[in-house]
Amino acid sequence: MEGRRVIGWAARDVSGHLSPYSVTLRKTGPEDVVLKVLYCGVDHTDLHQMRGEIMPINYPLVPGHEVVGEVVEVGSEVNKFKLGDKVGVGFVVKIPEKLAPEQAAPLLCAGVTAYSPLKQFNNSDKAIKAGILGLGGVGHLAVLIAKAMGHHVTVISSSEKKKVEALEHLHADAFLVSSNAAEMEGAAASLDYILDTVPAFHPLEPYISLLKAGGKLIFVGVSTKPLHFNNDDLILVTVMQCREEIIDREFHRKHGRNIGNTGFLGREGTEYNDRGGEDGLYKQGF
Ligand SMILES: NC(=O)c1ccc[n+]([C@@H]2O[C@H](COP(=O)([O-])OP(=O)(O)OC[C@H]3O[C@@H](n4cnc5c(N)ncnc54)[C@H](OP(=O)(O)O)[C@@H]3O)[C@@H](O)[C@H]2O)c1
Repeated sequence: MEGRRVIGWAARDVSGHLSPYSVTLRKTGPEDVVLKVLYCGVDHTDLHQMRGEIMPINYPLVPGHEVVGEVVEVGSEVNKFKLGDKVGVGFVVKIPEKLAPEQAAPLLCAGVTAYSPLKQFNNSDKAIKAGILGLGGVGHLAVLIAKAMGHHVTVISSSEKKKVEALEHLHADAFLVSSNAAEMEGAAASLDYILDTVPAFHPLEPYISLLKAGGKLIFVGVSTKPLHFNNDDLILVTVMQCREEIIDREFHRKHGRNIGNTGFLGREGTEYNDRGGEDGLYKQGF
């Protein structure tokens, strides 16, 4: 059975060109909620989909999945929503009255995408230093969410263009341009996490080197080609930080074992240095 006839703007191939498209919806079912679209965010996932970059697409495709609308019809078994309610989709959620519907729309995907991985840092008892890589739609919301959680936020961007926006409008604490070697070097090993929102292939080594040992690189951006990295930096950062522990006998104190006797580090009580074995202190260097 047929329902309402509606109009959207559809992509019909990978070109990115949109044109009007008319479709007849199914007849409203008992559990359906029909809404009139008031606002719709368009994020990079819509672009990936229109271009067929992340999965095979059955065209025509009407992009836009951060939708806020007003309920105009409900099925016979729906009792959670009534006519006139403001709701958002993917799954239907009520939009609180205090939240402007146009501001709610991007929260439904970009906001959730940023918040979901950052939730793990909720109520952290230590000061968290955050990096947000890419200041697009997800990046904007990630800065706001991380700031609201009390993190010290560094925006890592591909150019200077968004510096004022990041520091003055979004109140980020620091701004790095990824192509500026001196700035990147100055921020080495300083971040607890980086939320990577870049929607394209990109090298990872420059960003890994910004992380503290044990820091997290969190991906939400979709690369159309596999991402890979050279693991030298990972090993070196971890080794450098652990070296002090093992050399100053923190390991011995914690674990009660003198691994110096294995010949790996040298004799107990020896003064260690970095010369890699010429005086017999190291039998095996890092
Ligand atoms: N995992 C999920 O559930 C989920 C949900 C929503 C979105 N996403 C994905 O998240 C990604 C970002 O979406 P978005 O809507 O925020 O995209 P967007 O608005 O296009 O922003 C992406 C930002 O990344 C930076 N960037 C773009 N190309 C780059 C490149 N080649 N190298 C380095 N940086 C680059 C730019 O920031 P700067 O100018 O600051 O460099 C750009 O503004 C997309 O891949 C999207 O599909 C995932």
